[in-house]
Amino acid sequence: MKVLVTDEISKNGLLPILDDPRITVDFKVGLPKEELHQVIGDYQAIITRSMTQVDEALLEHATNLKMIARAGVGIDNVDVDAASSRGIIVVNAPYGNVNSAAEHTMAILLSYCRNVTLANASLKSGQWQRAPFTGHELKEKTIGVIGLGKVGGRVALRCRAFEANVITYDPYISEKRAEDFGVKLVSLEDVIRFSDIITVHTPLNDETRDLITAEHFEGMQDGVFIVNCARGGIINEEAMLAALESGKCGGAAFDVWSQEPPKSDTLKKLIAHPKMLVTPHLGANTYEAQKNVAVDVSKEIVNYVDGRPISNA
Ligand code: NAD
Ligand code: MLT
Repeated sequence: MKVLVTDEISKNGLLPILDDPRITVDFKVGLPKEELHQVIGDYQAIITRSMTQVDEALLEHATNLKMIARAGVGIDNVDVDAASSRGIIVVNAPYGNVNSAAEHTMAILLSYCRNVTLANASLKSGQWQRAPFTGHELKEKTIGVIGLGKVGGRVALRCRAFEANVITYDPYISEKRAEDFGVKLVSLEDVIRFSDIITVHTPLNDETRDLITAEHFEGMQDGVFIVNCARGGIINEEAMLAALESGKCGGAAFDVWSQEPPKSDTLKKLIAHPKMLVTPHLGANTYEAQKNVAVDVSKEIVNYVDGRPISNA
């Protein structure tokens, strides 16, 4: 099986498992779309993260492709229907990076609340200022977690460890799951109305795109703080910018963007806004997570070659 790796994926995770005489692995990271279209026909498997769009146009050229392996959780960059209609198996690595994503959510949340990045820049520039960097505690804040899945559940537990009151909106979980995490399952309206901090952890799909709109911002607490370490576009970015500009929203921390790298005027303004703390899709960027997801997708390729069942198709 010829395997093409198109994004930055841990070689330490991939290579020991794919070191098999039946498998060859080529790394062609960051190929322009046209070049990718030219070479994809040679491969039976492609391993990607979120930077490669595995869309209809690519699949038209992928005449020998048997497997698309997404080294991470979100498969919103893969046209799963188009792949399935061609008999191509789509697998992901749904567990390996969720702890890292939860920790990054906490990192940007806490950094924002305690002005860590601003104070860091100030002291490094030779100033000694303290009052402008007075922050907020998480203790006794109401934190609304939207999507109590693998990442959201971990974030909820970590917020509880900070003695916050955690409420959650997730139409697909049971009361029991919420109870197990020690959080209250409520409606989206209640998360919007009562939360001091709102953090989203749903997949991005037709149902969750623009889950949070300008109308929702109107119903939020004044000074609400918003976190998105899931997918760009779950929170409408124009509405986010307007809420920051009007002062309705006290600040936000975003790791993910509807366009990556961000180029639109709205995203440039959002990123530049002084009340935004931003990172370039780093949620899964730890050595541990990258190794985990690379191991997981490599095992799936070996499963395929061995004719064994695929675990995460
Ligand atoms: P998951 O499937 O385990 O959990 C998602 C949860 O969202 C589920 O409980 C589901 O019931 C809920 N949900 C679905 N539709 C909903 C809706 N309309 N309203 C409210 N809840 C809804 O997924 P996960 O592994 O926890 O990942 C969560 C998100 O984090 C995904 O978007 C994933 O791509 C993203 N992620 C980002 C990074 C990063 O690098 N920033 C890393 C890992 C995961
Ligand atoms: C994921 O969905 O797993 C993350 O966004 C991380 C990545 O893009 O690799």
